Amino acid sequence: MKPLPPSPLTLDPARLPRHVAIIMDGNGRWAKQRGYPRMRGHAAGAESARAVIREARRLGIGYLTLFAFSEENWQRPAREIRTLMALLKRYLRQELREMQEHGIVFNAIGNLARLPADVQEELRRTREATQNGSGMVLTLALSYGGRSDILQAVQTLAREVQAGRLSPDEIDAARFAGALYTAGLPDPDLVIRTSGEYRLSNFLLWQSAYAELYFTPTYWPDFREEEFHRALWDYQRRDRRFGLTQEQVESGLLARLLGAPPR
Ligand code: FPP
Repeated sequence: MKPLPPSPLTLDPARLPRHVAIIMDGNGRWAKQRGYPRMRGHAAGAESARAVIREARRLGIGYLTLFAFSEENWQRPAREIRTLMALLKRYLRQELREMQEHGIVFNAIGNLARLPADVQEELRRTREATQNGSGMVLTLALSYGGRSDILQAVQTLAREVQAGRLSPDEIDAARFAGALYTAGLPDPDLVIRTSGEYRLSNFLLWQSAYAELYFTPTYWPDFREEEFHRALWDYQRRDRRFGLTQEQVESGLLARLLGAPPR
């Protein structure tokens, strides 16, 4: 029998993921299915982003990371890229006040230098205007690729070694994570991908090592609060063991290793 459809009431607030990362996919197919231009799919996708950000904040999720533009997306038609960038800029402007009202701390990761200057400027402004917030950390991954993230971290550390400031033996997982674009963010506990694709597509490769993965056939523009709850509900039914045995987890070893109760 299929489990009962989750409602907000079935979520255990004590076991919410600390960090949720989302691959927002399917805007184009959503639009095509309806005979709309692709851009209308992206505009509807921006509404989903708004709804999910609000809901994540309301639930008390600490970190939300959205994959908004991949390195590979630069190969899309120039017109689509231009309109996506314009949408992003408008979105940041529209959302700033609400972000500030709710203490959201805005952050962007990726090869941001590749973005148009006006978008970079808007990102910088939004970051600055929200950096004193004490609420959810919202990160947009833009011009982001997981392999490039790893490579730039390797280059940063190699330069430190070359300059004699770091010994190769000092490079451990924590030091490496500190050189990634995501430095300061906890690893994602839950990675959601919409639109029926079962891939990570170069998103947070290092960081997702122990993440729970949730896939749904729903196209991103249709992914709203209810489906978000479903993903969180599904997450809460998973057993997270991080390579330990069930007995070790029950003995409290995982909690001691993580320094916090297992999620
Ligand atoms: C994937 O759909 C989506 C993107 C490449 C862009 C994501 C952008 C948004 C959700 C809107 C803007 C978001 C913010 C936060 C302003 P797709 O075009 O790859 O869909 P397809 O695979 O069906 O073609």
